[in-house]
Amino acid sequence: MPSAMKIFSGNSNRALAERICEHIGVRVGDALVGRFADDEIRVKINEDVRGGDVFVIQSTCPPVNDSVMELVLMIDALRRASAERITAVIPYFGYARQDRKDEGRVPISAKAVANMLTSVGVDRVLCIDLHAAQLQGFFDLPVDHLYAGPVMKRYFRRLNLKDLTVVAPDVGSSKLARGYAKRLDAGLAIVDKRRVTDTDTKVMSVIGDVKGRNVLLIDDMISTAGSITEAARTVREMGAKAVYLAATHAVLSGQAMERLDKAAIEQLIVTDTIPLTEERSRPYIKVLSVARMLGEAILRIHHAESVSRLFDDMEDD
Ligand code: R5P
Repeated sequence: MPSAMKIFSGNSNRALAERICEHIGVRVGDALVGRFADDEIRVKINEDVRGGDVFVIQSTCPPVNDSVMELVLMIDALRRASAERITAVIPYFGYARQDRKDEGRVPISAKAVANMLTSVGVDRVLCIDLHAAQLQGFFDLPVDHLYAGPVMKRYFRRLNLKDLTVVAPDVGSSKLARGYAKRLDAGLAIVDKRRVTDTDTKVMSVIGDVKGRNVLLIDDMISTAGSITEAARTVREMGAKAVYLAATHAVLSGQAMERLDKAAIEQLIVTDTIPLTEERSRPYIKVLSVARMLGEAILRIHHAESVSRLFDDMEDD
């Protein structure tokens, strides 16, 4: 008999935590996650977790540093309160793009975050569409890596777009785009992107055919929206018909909303791994929920059942 399951949430995506709990049929655990007068993060777990199988839901999205620190301190509190097992459910894993030393004297921030979580005693990690799958190796403990693919593909199948080409806005997203193209029975094209600064990109060329096609540009995340809107502009200029954008994680920082508002697109499809604030909501943005998928994964982890089989079940839906 597994020990009692408890689910807690930080402040970064409380709405998703509530949707997950609703799916599972439990309530979000009682915890104070606030601030002291000097802005230090204050955590107090208000219920008994001794011997419990505890899940902490927290996307490390903006404000990223607060989100990371809340997660670290919640895990520390739960460990010291004798939880038997602690799983960090991190639907969006921030700092993931800083995953290597690509120049001198820079940190590997993703590894530093993984080290912090490990050092306070996390036992497992559950996340969705990591920027690079290899990030799993930054943890020396089990990482369940889910894909928003089944949720997105179900939506696109319903749209039933003819003459569809899935386009990767850069080479890094080509594997993701290939998976979508295969499942949606669509063509595939890849944009050769160069990053000019951390907020601006330039399209060098497009490999594949987009003329006269409906285009679905797919990426793991949209941050400043430079990559995806540049790619959208290019495929339009090359004669694409309707252009749809999709990304699992709607970070939407900096100039993102300005760029997206100006982009000639039919729709932007994202998931709720990061909450879409009111000022970022737009009629052209469709948010799909990953709550059911995460809820199922949590149940399977709790009952020591296969998580990968969840995907077979979801593909059959
Ligand atoms: C890059 O490798 C990622 O997959 C995204 O394409 C990129 O990080 C998005 O950033 P932005 O929206 O700022 O161009």
